[in-house]
Amino acid sequence: MQLNDIPQLHPTEFEAVQRPFISKSFKELEEIFDKASRGMDHEFLTLLDHELTFRQKNQKTPALRKDVARSLAKAAARQADFFVASAPVTVARSRAAGRAPAKHTRPASRRKSKFQPTDEQDAALQAFLKGQSLKINAFAGSGKTSTLQLLSNATGLRGQYLAFNKSIVTDAEEKFSETIDCSTSHSLAFRAAPSGYKRDIGKLTNRCTAKQLVEVLDLKRRKFGDKYAITPDSQGYLYLETIRRYAQSADDEIGPQHVPVLGAIRTAPEDVRDEVSSFGLEGARHVWSRMLSEHDPLPLGHDGYLKLWGLSRPIIATDYIMLDEAQDTNPVVLDILQRQRAQLIYVGDRYQQIYEWRGAVNAMESIDTEASTYLTTSFRFGDAVADLATKMLLKLGERQPVKGNPLLMSRIGKTNPNAILARTNASTISAVIEALDEGRKPHLVGDKSELMDMLRGVQSLRNEEPSTCPAFFGFKLWNEVVEFARTDEGAHLVTFVNFVEKRGEKQLMWALNRTVDEEKADLVISTGHKSKGREWKSVRLMDDFLRSSPGDKKGGGPDPAEMRLLYVALTRAKEVLEVPEQILQFIERDILPECDKVVEDQQRTAKKASSTSSIVSQPLVRPQRSSPPSPLPAIAVRSESVAERPVRKRIMGWLFGK
Ligand SMILES: Nc1ncnc2c1ncn2[C@@H]1O[C@H](COP(=O)(O)OP(=O)(O)O)[C@@H](O)[C@H]1O
Ligand SMILES: [Mg+2]
Repeated sequence: MQLNDIPQLHPTEFEAVQRPFISKSFKELEEIFDKASRGMDHEFLTLLDHELTFRQKNQKTPALRKDVARSLAKAAARQADFFVASAPVTVARSRAAGRAPAKHTRPASRRKSKFQPTDEQDAALQAFLKGQSLKINAFAGSGKTSTLQLLSNATGLRGQYLAFNKSIVTDAEEKFSETIDCSTSHSLAFRAAPSGYKRDIGKLTNRCTAKQLVEVLDLKRRKFGDKYAITPDSQGYLYLETIRRYAQSADDEIGPQHVPVLGAIRTAPEDVRDEVSSFGLEGARHVWSRMLSEHDPLPLGHDGYLKLWGLSRPIIATDYIMLDEAQDTNPVVLDILQRQRAQLIYVGDRYQQIYEWRGAVNAMESIDTEASTYLTTSFRFGDAVADLATKMLLKLGERQPVKGNPLLMSRIGKTNPNAILARTNASTISAVIEALDEGRKPHLVGDKSELMDMLRGVQSLRNEEPSTCPAFFGFKLWNEVVEFARTDEGAHLVTFVNFVEKRGEKQLMWALNRTVDEEKADLVISTGHKSKGREWKSVRLMDDFLRSSPGDKKGGGPDPAEMRLLYVALTRAKEVLEVPEQILQFIERDILPECDKVVEDQQRTAKKASSTSSIVSQPLVRPQRSSPPSPLPAIAVRSESVAERPVRKRIMGWLFGK
């Protein structure tokens, strides 16, 4: 089969399926008609006409269709006076460019706020009521969602609240009035998906897996160059990863820029890398076209139907749109928003952007709005935590201080914490082992299965069986992974490799299996990334923050992304925050935490030293209270570890706790 024989669907092919009013009641459609006909809004009238073709069961439909047709004729006559381009993209862009300020009206009923707005919240409200696009620059815990609630309560116009995470939306739904629809971007996309995709709900919501592709495409082990063998599972993973990157981008078509360079291929010769890239691209195009076909069993998945929505150039039928946590926005969603005619309000904390590696864009930095205001007072913590946060932000170039809540006391110092936050997943397991050792019941935030798969992958590679785990793409032996971790390209694996060598994968699996659900836990352990949006009374930070920063060696200061992550982690505490001395030294005095150093000679010796493995740092520490499996047989023990190297963005991000 020729993979590239299958045509790609073009964005304009989705134009016909636009149904921005799909979720509206008939009464709401009548209201939309009133407004659109008064404003001679040709575009909305056309969409309304299209929507009514799906509402044949309602008795009032024929009459409303007649009215719409009449208004459309009038609007068309008037529109002929203007020069309007017909290409959908241009129309969409011109829609955004020619955005008139929203005309806010009084709300039908007065809704009393639970709190007295601060001056900063009031300033945001006044800017909102002027009807122009608005950016609300907020700091951690400064009442972002409450401020949006305040805004929506003050207008009679209809709004759309958007957030990426379901949990943020569920939280917001309770706060907002009925004149605003609260949804994730995914649920808007889901509602708008053409009915053909909904015959079998799994077509939209199931996740296509590498295993499924192996079966459906009958993938076979393949060799690239003379030594790079790629397993069928890894091929499937390469296709899916390419599609994921494309789906999250604002690009219309899949291209070579979406194909990741994974594992062993990163150090392969250029011709091999090109060959793998073309292979990945061709396969991904084929798989995507099958996902797009309503009758093909390969599911679109959540990323897929969101992309489908983006490609259909949707119109969000509302007067204003609020985007919460806008600092980590999916580029597809941002592209959709920028094409809207509704008033746009972005709220977020630009310093809490921590998903850049995953292709997220910081709308708080990249989007220009007509107005912009600040929320700088935190309701979460008192002055001590606020002062530390201010010092962190100063390093990131922020001039405004974070102000603490005058009603709360907070302190920096030793604590028996409710939560422990670490930079890497490897350190979270360290914390788990220590907590088990102390007889505590730890909960580890996030999905453990990926880490488990990776540890199983280590076992396979040690047995000289190629692993199906994507992290070990193209490797045949564990020792190859260990060597790879020494290179710049493999730097993202250093922590993991050192950790496996130090503890042994069996003991790590044992510890992971002993963590409990959050309700049963007396301690929460999380990476900084997974702690986003959460808060605890007392928090301890582990000492692995800032350790993988390129600036360490060049003297240019740590990577801003690492500093942003530290800012996120330290602003999770409400009362007590325990910070390792090295990190305090950095925040207070600019002294960088030390990194593990590579000693070249020793490294070379290490390479020769063992055929099974070469890097082990310290004697194994085993929990005392219960009996974990025995660690690995003794292997060459060395006092140095592989150095932490610059973290490559986007690759195996979750290894770093993302
Ligand atoms: N003006 C205010 N006065 C007192 N408390 C407020 C005010 N604004 C917000 N809050 C409180 O601050 C807390 C955090 O607000 P929230 O909007 O959830 O913050 P964010 O969205 O930034 O995480 C909530 O308990 C909220 O009720
Ligand atoms: Mg919020």
